[in-house]
Amino acid sequence: MEVAAKPILELEGINTFYGQIHILKDVNLIVREGELVCLLGGNASGKSTTLKTVLGIVRPRTGRVSIGGEDVTRLATAHRIERGLAIVPENRRLFGPMTVVENLELGAYLRPKADLKAEFERVYSLFPKLYERRSQLAGTLSGGEQQMVAMGRALMSKPRLLLMDEPSMGLAPVLVEQNFEIIRQVNEAGVALLVVEQNANVSLSIADRGYVLSTGRIVLEGPAAELLQHDDLRKAYLGR
Ligand SMILES: Nc1ncnc2c1ncn2[C@@H]1O[C@H](COP(=O)(O)OP(=O)(O)OP(=O)(O)O)[C@@H](O)[C@H]1O
Ligand SMILES: [Mg+2]
Repeated sequence: MEVAAKPILELEGINTFYGQIHILKDVNLIVREGELVCLLGGNASGKSTTLKTVLGIVRPRTGRVSIGGEDVTRLATAHRIERGLAIVPENRRLFGPMTVVENLELGAYLRPKADLKAEFERVYSLFPKLYERRSQLAGTLSGGEQQMVAMGRALMSKPRLLLMDEPSMGLAPVLVEQNFEIIRQVNEAGVALLVVEQNANVSLSIADRGYVLSTGRIVLEGPAAELLQHDDLRKAYLGR
């Protein structure tokens, strides 16, 4: 009998408001160990607000956020990060005038110094290109290489769950493919991911499961393969 992997992240009955405006409505979402889950939705559907709720940047009015089975709803962002979250921000936000090594090191600020060598080795074995480029200034790397640095920096903290907000945003199709190949590799190395996307096809093609948000409500969820077959997924919920 196959035992279901343990949940790393659980959102239960989340209702989030900005002032009087009800944004997230009864959102339930789970990411289990080793899973790649995508959260789809059109503009202003509440995707980034969901990530902010996970990170504790915004607080839900009702509902519970758990990391590794522990209720963190009342914990500050820093304490949630300590429990194993990492985020690859939109537009990567690398430090251009610093080298690849220096950028990676920033991701490990919570790790004991003694672990640094092992973290570098892990990241370099996943992205050998970064080892070749370790002394190069991040700002002079190609787009794909910069994405590797952004992922590598997040991985330096040895996260249990990596959060990504729209990794395909503003990229040419060939770079989108490249990016998702990098995301797939990271997941294959055992890291669970929650990836927010508007690009349903490319994200569902590498995901295990997906959720679809529409004006703050989860309107569809299931195995990625099933969602890919869903005829009017894009028409009905993603606005294109
Ligand atoms: N700080 C804020 N104060 C007030 N309203 C906000 C705030 N942040 C977001 N909103 C509103 O909440 C709704 C959801 O925003 P959110 O950023 O979560 O959407 P999204 O799905 O990430 O959209 P996009 O695809 O455009 O990034 C939007 O209507 C937005 O205007
Ligand atoms: Mg957003």
